[in-house]
Order: sequence, then C-alpha cells, then structure tokens
Amino acid sequence: MSMAPVIAIDGPTASGKGTIAQAVARELGFGCLDSGALYRVVALLALRRRIDTGDALRLAQVARSAHPLFERGRVELDGEDVTEAIRAEEVGRAASHVSAHAAVRDELLQLQRSFRRWPGLVADGRDMGTVVFPDARLKVFLTASVEVRAQRRLKQLMEKGISASLADLLLDLCERDKRDRTRPVAPLKAADDAYELDASSLTVDEVVGQVLAWYRTVSQVQ
Ligand code: DC
Repeated sequence: MSMAPVIAIDGPTASGKGTIAQAVARELGFGCLDSGALYRVVALLALRRRIDTGDALRLAQVARSAHPLFERGRVELDGEDVTEAIRAEEVGRAASHVSAHAAVRDELLQLQRSFRRWPGLVADGRDMGTVVFPDARLKVFLTASVEVRAQRRLKQLMEKGISASLADLLLDLCERDKRDRTRPVAPLKAADDAYELDASSLTVDEVVGQVLAWYRTVSQVQ
C-alpha cells in the first residue's frame, strides 16, 4: 500500500503555519503534526534540567527519552499538561538553539515520520518539505513580513495577559529567523518544489482556501 499523503507547511516563526495547518487538517479530516512543539518540549526539559543549549550530546539524550503525547490539541509530558508551558517565549528562544544540533534533529526524525497515517497528515515546521517528508504531495512555504508577524505575536501575548514591546518582539523574531535560516543542518528554506505564499495581507480563510486549492490541483495530476 502506498504511503498516506502529506501536506508540508514550512515557514518562519509566527507566520501563521500552525493555524493554517490545523484548519487544512480539519477540512480534509487529516491528522496534524506541529513539529515545533517537539523542539519546544526538548527545550523545556533542557531549561528545567539546566542543560546548556550548546550541549548537543545531552540534548540528544533528552530528545531520545522524551515521549510527549499529542491529544486534542494538548501536549502531555509524563502525565503533565505542558501545552502552555512550551509556548513561553523563553522556551521558543531555547528551542531555536536546541534545534540547531544535528544530533537533536536526528533523534526526532523517526518520531515525526510516525505521525504519517491514513487518511493523511498536515505537518508544519521548518524542514517538513525538505527533510522530514521530502515526498510530501504538497509543499507550502508560508511567509509574512516581520512586522505582521511581530504584531501577531504581540496580540497573542496580550490575549494571554503578558506584556511585551513591539520593538523587542521585532528584534527577537529577526534574530530567530536568522538563526533558523543560517544553521548548517536543515535550515529554514523553501523546498525547490514548494508553493510560496506571502500571507501578510491575507486572511486565514484566504490562505486555507489557497492551500486546499493547490492540494486539489496536485492530487488530480498524481
Ligand atoms: O514553530 P515554532 O516556533 O514552534 O518552533 C520552535 C523552534 O523550533 C524554532 O525556533 C525552530 C525550531 N524548529 C525546527 O528547527 N524545525 C522544525 N521542523 C520546527 C521547529
């Protein structure tokens, strides 16, 4: 039997990938993989255990022994609900460092591929189309201007009652983008066969509509 189809949605921090991936998965009845959550889980454990984010060996061990459970939009780790904890800015920043290690990425590769089940999977991250699912049926590279992404992050934080400054968020996003794009292993970049979409001035519904339209087109020609 052939493998279940995958829709890969890659792009920089706060480009709206997660929201789009969930909506597309809902429309198609597919499963969803938020690969960033895996790196965030490793980062959370590293912070709690005071492991240096440069210590590739120990971080790889953490990645190997972590068994997060994903259910109904929640993330559970050893019986603890860490859904909110992994979204903290500090954890996101640490995840960007942790994910730069090839040893950590290798440990998480099989786990990510195990999410591929019928009727299909929508996977979002940085290297879904380039490394994890190079045979994805559809690859989307979703971008938005850094200003739009910083505004979005600010709104998300304010909704959680966390105060932040737009200037700090802009700086942080730029640094994180640079780190993700310039790292030697699995850098953030569009796959050669990816459909690129700048969502700066589009609504969520418009982006979801475009992804579904592309998916229908590529499914017909297969
Ligand atoms: O998508 P996110 O912001 O939750 O991801 C957190 C960090 O994890 C991000 O800085 C880069 C890293 N990441 C990665 O290297 N590869 C992925 N497939 C997903 C995330």
